[in-house]
Amino acid sequence: MKFTLTEEQAMIQEMVRDFAQTEIAPSAIERDKSEEFPAEIIKKMAELGLMGMMVNPKYDGAGMDTISYCLAMMEISKVDAAVGVIMSVNNSLVTFGLEKWGSDFIKEKYLKPLARGEKLGAFALSEPEAGSDATRQQTNAVKDGNHWIINGIKNWITNGESADYYIVIAQTDKEKKHHGITAFVVEKGTPGFEHGVHENKMGIRSSDTCSLTFTDCRVPEENVIWEVGKGFNFAMNTLNGGRYGIASQAVGIAQASLDAAIKYAKERKAFGTEIANHQAIQFKIADMATRAEAAKLLTLQAAALKDEGKPYIKEASMAKLFASEAATKNALEAIQIHGGYGYVREYQVERFLRDAKITEIYEGTSEIQRIVIGRQLLRD
Ligand code: CAA
Repeated sequence: MKFTLTEEQAMIQEMVRDFAQTEIAPSAIERDKSEEFPAEIIKKMAELGLMGMMVNPKYDGAGMDTISYCLAMMEISKVDAAVGVIMSVNNSLVTFGLEKWGSDFIKEKYLKPLARGEKLGAFALSEPEAGSDATRQQTNAVKDGNHWIINGIKNWITNGESADYYIVIAQTDKEKKHHGITAFVVEKGTPGFEHGVHENKMGIRSSDTCSLTFTDCRVPEENVIWEVGKGFNFAMNTLNGGRYGIASQAVGIAQASLDAAIKYAKERKAFGTEIANHQAIQFKIADMATRAEAAKLLTLQAAALKDEGKPYIKEASMAKLFASEAATKNALEAIQIHGGYGYVREYQVERFLRDAKITEIYEGTSEIQRIVIGRQLLRD
């Protein structure tokens, strides 16, 4: 077992850290207030190859390994987790699945521009009544000649307004339950496809989230991903990849909370000395650092297993479960260490808490991660 990064991984980490600090950090507080989608930043990230990091260069991706992707996600999310989730959805939930299960047609038409970052992707699985219980898909698609006609509503879709291409999961044969679910690529602007109102969220505010409606939306049969009836397996396998992405986002927030707490503890004086000299603060910092490090190691373990071609479902869920809870706990402790200053916007730690909470909810709640881990351990 090695705990050192390769030269290339360390180089990518440093490059993304520099980019995040100079190009993303200065405007993060403002974007949190304005909810403005970071279009210019995403464009620059595309130029650096960050929007299709793991995609093979033959499909215009950067051809990097999963560890590099996780390291990049951590650096981006350390300064702005909203930018982190936009990047994560395009990489983990969209390009990853299209490269693995898309047809040559889909790879040529949709994967390549997504991997170049010229187009943005979204992943539409959740519905008003199918969140954690994802097999209960009410959105349906009916075959009509060489098209499928989609009807239904999707909820909580990250990049919902800004995306160009959407992966949409729909029931195509109710009798077959989750084996009668199919995944499609749907282009923005397809007649009958509209997005709903922008959700006013607690955190990750500059990433856009909205519902999608499909009313007799005709999609060509070439846009079926993998094959008819494989949509649920596609979604589950894609989400495994999403989960180490969100774990990385959470590690970034946990680390940012720790960094802010250390900085403040060394500056702030109380009872005649810097608060860093008080054991009450030292204990908090020690626990925060241990949580951030453990979360990082679990996440990189899941990524390393994937890079080695080994099973990583349990490990990706463990990483997401632990890292997301670590992010929330670290952000809360960072606020506590900052006292009253932690409760106001300019010190950022209150944003870290608001951003952290969603990592315990999306791409499978903590409760769902425990189900996945438990079933993996007990199935044989
Ligand atoms: N990886 C691969 N396959 C999996 C899997 C996993 N992690 N979990 C389940 N499956 C497969 C099973 O092997 C089974 O396949 P077969 O029938 O072909 O053998 C099939 O899925 C059904 O599994 P279960 O019988 O276990 O189904 P279930 O209904 O009891 O439980 C669940 C499934 C694990 C709870 C699943 O519904 C789930 O993961 N729910 C959470 C959904 C989720 O994560 N939503 C996130 C939305 S996307 C998002 O948030 C993106 C964003 O915008 C940021």
